[in-house]
Amino acid sequence: MTRTLPAFAAALILAFAFAACGGTETMDDAGIETPTPGPGSTGDTPTPQSTPAADAETPVAGTPESATPPDSRTPAVADGSDVDGEDGRDGAARPGPTPAAEGSGSGDTYPIASPRQFSIATPTPPPSTPAPAPAHTPTPAPANPVAVVACNDFLAPVDKQHRLPANCVPHGLVALPSWTTMREGQYMVAEAAEAFAAMVEDAAAAGHTILARSAYRSYDTQVAVYNSHVQNMGQERADRVSARPGHSEHQLGTTVDVTTPQVNYQLSRALGDTAAGRWLQQNSWNYGFVMSYPYGKEHITGYSYEPWHFRYVGTDIAIQVRDSGLTLGEFLHRRR
Ligand code: DAL
Ligand code: ZN
Repeated sequence: MTRTLPAFAAALILAFAFAACGGTETMDDAGIETPTPGPGSTGDTPTPQSTPAADAETPVAGTPESATPPDSRTPAVADGSDVDGEDGRDGAARPGPTPAAEGSGSGDTYPIASPRQFSIATPTPPPSTPAPAPAHTPTPAPANPVAVVACNDFLAPVDKQHRLPANCVPHGLVALPSWTTMREGQYMVAEAAEAFAAMVEDAAAAGHTILARSAYRSYDTQVAVYNSHVQNMGQERADRVSARPGHSEHQLGTTVDVTTPQVNYQLSRALGDTAAGRWLQQNSWNYGFVMSYPYGKEHITGYSYEPWHFRYVGTDIAIQVRDSGLTLGEFLHRRR
């Protein structure tokens, strides 16, 4: 299915995504968090013709989200290019340098010096001196090979070892209802969107305002998000808070970052200590959502604690994950 996001919606995704997944604390440290008005703000509603939010908040060059439909654009970063550091780690066949002394044939075509030539040549070292070994720089084996998972596989692990194709745009993206989001223009696949709306509704009935801040993100948006983090905090820290392009669960269309008034509509680790955050931890399973990056599991997930980042896997699987005590990533790896 080919789906085209309206340009203004895509611009909003990009604008919000810059603040997404780094956490307010981290982002504030880095000084790149963008002040965010509360829900219902209409002062900066973009028109389809202009993308001021994306333009203003794009700190690095990238394909604007609104430039082309997400499923037809050329990725800003060619799949497997070394811009995202994956070169040589994703199993893609790339010709390596041919060692100088290897592959040069059997050696039976070497010219043989005539006696006359030999007599005037510079004396060669005695045969007991071995010829220097040909220069040969072995290519180190990839430490963490990256597997490419199928687009639209609801239960595919998407993490530092598994990535989606750059051109993967999930089928069936729908706009989240406006009452579930900070801004219109957030998309998820239909089943996840319905489940999210039900969770927001029930949270409200329990006295908690929960809103989506960043849902589906295209590959190109993730390029901009990740590059922004690298630029602002360096690659090492960026890799702890932001997925590299192709490696974000947001590209699945089943993942959403949530926020609340209690954390000033930011993505903050403080969310976990609020009543709304605790409600989510206790109840998200029942709607099919799992917090992908729980507290104290960075050594397993590869990402620091994100109490706002929830991936939809369906109620049955979510409850199995809860009961297993595993992280979502561990669980999805084991069931493959
Ligand atoms: N913050 C998470 C890891 C992401 O960028 O998808
Ligand atoms: Zn997230």
